[in-house]
Amino acid sequence: MNEIIIGHLSEFPERRSRVVRLGSLELAVFKQTGGTVTAIENRCPHKGGKLSEGIVCGSHVYCPLHDWKISLNDGLVQAPDDGCVQTFPVYIDESGNVVLRIELSESKVS
Ligand code: FES
Repeated sequence: MNEIIIGHLSEFPERRSRVVRLGSLELAVFKQTGGTVTAIENRCPHKGGKLSEGIVCGSHVYCPLHDWKISLNDGLVQAPDDGCVQTFPVYIDESGNVVLRIELSESKVS
């Protein structure tokens, strides 16, 4: 497992996202109300909508294309739709850096 600093907590706007690219992998990193930061793959499992452009409500994001509701915490698509988005562990270090934990193979760096 590798740890990558992807920015400082102050650089992440609340209830919005930042896109982080690691090789061919694109992540949408969200800071929820209250400061929790979560990272999910920036691709809706329905038809590939950019989840970074979705509307955040609580701990969910609504896909901008067809409004599927997806949990930012576990990536699960909420009923009546079905599916899952890959999530990636994130933590805030003692300096306020947002640190992504990821297997290098997941970053698909060639
Ligand atoms: S592409 Fe996301 S709901 Fe259709």
